[in-house]
Amino acid sequence: MKTLLRIENVTKMYPGANAIKALHPTSLNITEGTIHVIMGKSGSGKSTLLNILSGMDEPTKGVVHYLNRDIYKLNDKDQSLLRGKEFGYIFQFFQLIDELSVYDNICLPLLFTKQDFNKEKIRKVATELGIKEKLENFPQELSGGEQQRVAIARAIINQPKIIFADEPTANLDKTNSKRVTELLIHMCKKFNVTLVLVTHEENLISNPDYIYEMEDGNLKLR
Ligand SMILES: Nc1ncnc2c1ncn2[C@@H]1O[C@H](COP(=O)(O)OP(=O)(O)OP(=O)(O)O)[C@@H](O)[C@H]1O
Ligand SMILES: [Mg+2]
Repeated sequence: MKTLLRIENVTKMYPGANAIKALHPTSLNITEGTIHVIMGKSGSGKSTLLNILSGMDEPTKGVVHYLNRDIYKLNDKDQSLLRGKEFGYIFQFFQLIDELSVYDNICLPLLFTKQDFNKEKIRKVATELGIKEKLENFPQELSGGEQQRVAIARAIINQPKIIFADEPTANLDKTNSKRVTELLIHMCKKFNVTLVLVTHEENLISNPDYIYEMEDGNLKLR
């Protein structure tokens, strides 16, 4: 299977008075179409790793290769293109824009990367996620679960190669969090998107290809 993302001996040291090593040397291979779940206690370094993998935060040491290109050596423009076109993001607090309709929120990644708005596709994704009736509404008029489904639509609309999700359902109740996650997996399989997901919840995903445990900055395969 084709390797999309590969990190080698990546570490992270946050500077400051009490400098701490948040991530010990970590290597990882992410192949196309796979689902990776990273678990671990609060403060163990899960977001640190995800941010490094997803092109948001440069590691202190080590390399991050996306399709054999060192992503932190790309110039700003190419880094933005990578984040906008190849990667999709879902955050714990959906980070939807209150002033924009659901439709416009979903379109944001297309706007940033100057891609065409394919209305048909936006409707199709919204239908699949059960939010078609809400396209003209604003985020605050939606339930938590619905808002999270908008965040999924936004992450998937430009058909990224990889979606990075950091505790995407942490503020939903158990039933909704299971439902939203199942939809996310369904969408990833449908559009052949690779998924790297961080969560506290055991058994959130029934059959991921890989489950890791993060402990004090050390990543272990379960
Ligand atoms: N910007 C930062 N500056 C300094 N220290 C940081 C920074 N971000 C995180 N840390 C520290 O690095 C360690 C790992 O943090 P990280 O956010 O990766 O944990 P986490 O596993 O995602 O936790 P949670 O489950 O609570 O989100 C923690 O000790 C945290 O305090
Ligand atoms: Mg975190």
